[in-house]
Amino acid sequence: MSHVKGLICRGCSKEYPVEPINVCEFCFGPLEVSYDYASIAKSTSRSSIQDGPLSMWRYHDFLPVDLEEAIDIGTGFTPLVKANNLGRVLGLDHLYIKNDAVNPTYSFKDRPVSVTASKALEFEFEVLACVSTGNLMGSVAAHGARAGMKTVIFYPSNLEQGKIVGAAIYGPKMVAVNGTYDQVNRLGSEIADNNRWAFVNINLRPFYAEGSKTLGYEVAEQLGWKAPTHCVVPGASGELHTKIWKGLEEMAEVGLIDNPKTKVHLAQAEGCSPIVQAFESASREVRPVKPNTIAKSLAIGNPAAGPFSLEVLQQTNGTATAAEEDSIVDGIKLLAETEGIFTETAGGVVISGLKNLCDKGVIKSDEVTVAYITGNGLKTQEAIAHVPDQLSTEPDYESCKIVLENTF
Ligand SMILES: Cc1ncc(COP(=O)(O)O)c(C=O)c1O
Ligand SMILES: [Zn+2]
Repeated sequence: MSHVKGLICRGCSKEYPVEPINVCEFCFGPLEVSYDYASIAKSTSRSSIQDGPLSMWRYHDFLPVDLEEAIDIGTGFTPLVKANNLGRVLGLDHLYIKNDAVNPTYSFKDRPVSVTASKALEFEFEVLACVSTGNLMGSVAAHGARAGMKTVIFYPSNLEQGKIVGAAIYGPKMVAVNGTYDQVNRLGSEIADNNRWAFVNINLRPFYAEGSKTLGYEVAEQLGWKAPTHCVVPGASGELHTKIWKGLEEMAEVGLIDNPKTKVHLAQAEGCSPIVQAFESASREVRPVKPNTIAKSLAIGNPAAGPFSLEVLQQTNGTATAAEEDSIVDGIKLLAETEGIFTETAGGVVISGLKNLCDKGVIKSDEVTVAYITGNGLKTQEAIAHVPDQLSTEPDYESCKIVLENTF
């Protein structure tokens, strides 16, 4: 049985029943799921979680879906890799990479979508839909296929080929929109108002957002039931950033870990950094920007959870940092060459942001630090401007020997 109490407004705390709604009718604030933590504490323990499935669904007590109802394509419980080589370059002795690029559709989005597709079926929707910056659409298309739902995807027409093919293969209706993500999002809201569709990140957003909490739980469990000292999280809408913190707080609330003192840092791309700009000017208001970044998955100019992300930065003593556009590919290469992990542009933003935080002395060498790698590099090959250096040879040993001379 789920331990959900209902929905609650993040603005004025008005309570609502569990329904496919996302906005408070009094203050227009976003709604989120609330739980009975005493009841979770009674039914959950470290060992009950360890005995659960090797997926994000081992934390089903903290999610708004019963385990038996989950649309699960094998998401989560991804590796937490001790990154000694990258740590040496950055001067960190306890650096970990949370490699969420290895989920079934190669991004962390499988976590929120697994929850939402399950909820959409429970609410008896026939159509699963989304507006996407690239990764969400592959995930929605895959879960829609698995759930036997009709699926419709809206996305900016300038996305990378790998993202488009990686969604189209599951057979959804693909609608390329000639506009920015923020324009696609406005269009999606209007469509949601006029059709009974389950838009995962619009009318079902309260449930969708919950799935990302599992990135907080997993890291704490994998660190031996301890929260890290620092997390570095990529930000677009800011939702993932807020939910990793919610996850850590909830674990402490039910006694699974000590009260977390984690500094939850946010990394955005310089060409789309509205939350960083608000943080740096000590403003509580996030002013929309027009994105101009190679990190297309993070190109949200008007971030829905921006104000809440600022609250998390303040509450946890975190820092928001912008990765210079030129440094994003450097970050991708550095992670690949040191740790054997090929991430997409969002991961390049995280590694570059992590380097900024080390350079500024925000992160010290002896502190446990987790960098969240949330998407796979094979989906954004266009970002690496040219194919890395290749040797070329005729298929005989003598030719090859000449080519290999002076290689190492
Ligand atoms: C790979 C990747 N990382 C991080 C994010 C940021 O997510 P959020 O919108 O929750 O800030 C996205 C968003 O699409 C993404 O695709
Ligand atoms: Zn409200």
